[in-house]
Amino acid sequence: MMNKNVENAINQQVNREEFSSRLYLAMAIWCESNGFPGAAGFLYKHAEEERIHMLKLVHYVADRGGQAKLLPMEEPTQTYNTLLDLFGEILKHEMFITGSINELYGIALKENEFTTANFLQWYITEQVEEEALFSTILDKIKLVGSDKAGMFHIDKELEGMAMAKAVTNVGA
Ligand code: FEO
Repeated sequence: MMNKNVENAINQQVNREEFSSRLYLAMAIWCESNGFPGAAGFLYKHAEEERIHMLKLVHYVADRGGQAKLLPMEEPTQTYNTLLDLFGEILKHEMFITGSINELYGIALKENEFTTANFLQWYITEQVEEEALFSTILDKIKLVGSDKAGMFHIDKELEGMAMAKAVTNVGA
């Protein structure tokens, strides 16, 4: 059986990954309504990935003889001023998630839950990729500033990234 403190911390992480999915869904909806179809496609896809992050934790709890709990969730922000603001919020959120995973890892070590610590390695690596991905996108958006042609190009690029992800997922 899993240590109770570790199980509670995992349930909190389930909640945070579920929230991430809902946040990116809200952002995708905003992008779709505000002239950024590529960014919308990218974020709809990313919302699905966050759901997978959540499910991985749910199944892990079950594999260890527990039962994951779904905790209440706050409402995500549904309106944004600009695409720059929106991606700035994403990077901030991913940094928060990284901190949350690190905290969870620390709890697992403190409780001598080495199996859980080992399982969490995947999330630690994933967070490095998530932060790198979103800071790259944010840097590009900052670079084009208010240039409309540049913005159009970034939106197209995000559309391409969403499609590449879809192809990768089919292969997986
Ligand atoms: Fe589940 Fe974006 O990290």
